[in-house]
Amino acid sequence: MRCNTGHLTKTPELPGFREGPVSSPIQGVPVGVIGWQDIEIGPGPDRLSNSMPHPNWSNIAVMGAGAIGCYFGGMLARGGAKVTLIARRKHVEAINTSGLLLQSLDFQDRVPVTATDDAAAVGNAALILFCVKSTDTDDAAQQMAPHVAADAVILSLQNGVDNTERIQRHVKNRVIPVLVYAAAQMSAPGHVQHTGGGYLVMGPSPESGEITALFASAQVPVRISETIEADLWTKLLLNCAYNAVSALGAAPYSRMVAMAEIREVMRDVVNEVLQVARAKGIGLPENIIEATFKLAEAMPQTISSTAQDIQNGKRTEIGHLNGFVVREAEALGIPAPVNRTLNALIKLREQSRAD
Ligand SMILES: NC(=O)c1ccc[n+]([C@@H]2O[C@H](COP(=O)([O-])OP(=O)(O)OC[C@H]3O[C@@H](n4cnc5c(N)ncnc54)[C@H](OP(=O)(O)O)[C@@H]3O)[C@@H](O)[C@H]2O)c1
Repeated sequence: MRCNTGHLTKTPELPGFREGPVSSPIQGVPVGVIGWQDIEIGPGPDRLSNSMPHPNWSNIAVMGAGAIGCYFGGMLARGGAKVTLIARRKHVEAINTSGLLLQSLDFQDRVPVTATDDAAAVGNAALILFCVKSTDTDDAAQQMAPHVAADAVILSLQNGVDNTERIQRHVKNRVIPVLVYAAAQMSAPGHVQHTGGGYLVMGPSPESGEITALFASAQVPVRISETIEADLWTKLLLNCAYNAVSALGAAPYSRMVAMAEIREVMRDVVNEVLQVARAKGIGLPENIIEATFKLAEAMPQTISSTAQDIQNGKRTEIGHLNGFVVREAEALGIPAPVNRTLNALIKLREQSRAD
């Protein structure tokens, strides 16, 4: 059981929501997360709203229903919401035939949801969970934009720090950044496997109370963060330090930090990201370098999402991790040679896969 120190309430025991193995290495940051194997390693959500969700929130669409979209969409559907998953055809066919198979740490359930590959299905939704990889943000946002209801609210459940801004270029609606602290994967068409964590940290908005209440009614804790930009950058920094190296070295995090040469590379990556963040006025936790190394203690066997994508022959999100830092550094006149090298090498690996 986890105490909510802010409000002296207790977080309920939740399916698929477990205490992290160590306390947070990062002061002020609730959890440490790397890629698809995200797990919680610190204090959990500190706010579960008691207000009832607005009835309109019960119509929900998930744009890009893969691992994260199927998990959170599936949880909301289990909680009684009417959920439409917008997904690739193989998932659509499986889900419309047999329901969404949601295999969690504590339960396995066939969840009744509607699935389609037509982005126009966002039209009925008051709340849209936007869950494509960062590489697909512009395409997916463009596809759904003409159909989004005028008062719909969009939650961006994605890694990377500029997805909200990129979605916002296509729609007039409110787009709220959300950090995902969960690990999930699609094991087969229509079958999502939830392997850890399970809560969200969301930027503040006038709808915060209703949205947190909606998720709470589906057993998904949500914390509202007043420092969401710094939280997003902290996760970006951790992803930049671990993802590419884990992929290039085919190494789990424990092996990476055990090697002095790799620790130096990671330190350089972190320092470059810190310089960029500081130049942009984004304050990151002071102990972030030590915290970065400590993360491997919590997730020793983890292989990064970038490594997983390369193994599975998929495009990585590197251009929105180290690649993003390189572009920002260039614009600010800050050298970022280590991030540049890692970005280039991962892109080269992606090309080899295409041959
Ligand atoms: N999985 C995790 O454990 C985890 C944890 C924390 C954060 N995240 C972040 O959450 C985000 C989503 O990750 P994920 O693991 O859920 O990715 P995912 O499993 O690849 O899910 C995204 C799905 O959206 C589909 N898609 C893309 N464009 C679409 C479109 N226009 N219409 C319909 N479907 C579309 C993709 O299909 P194709 O693959 O065919 O393109 C894919 O099936 C990422 O930013 C990731 O970094 C993931």
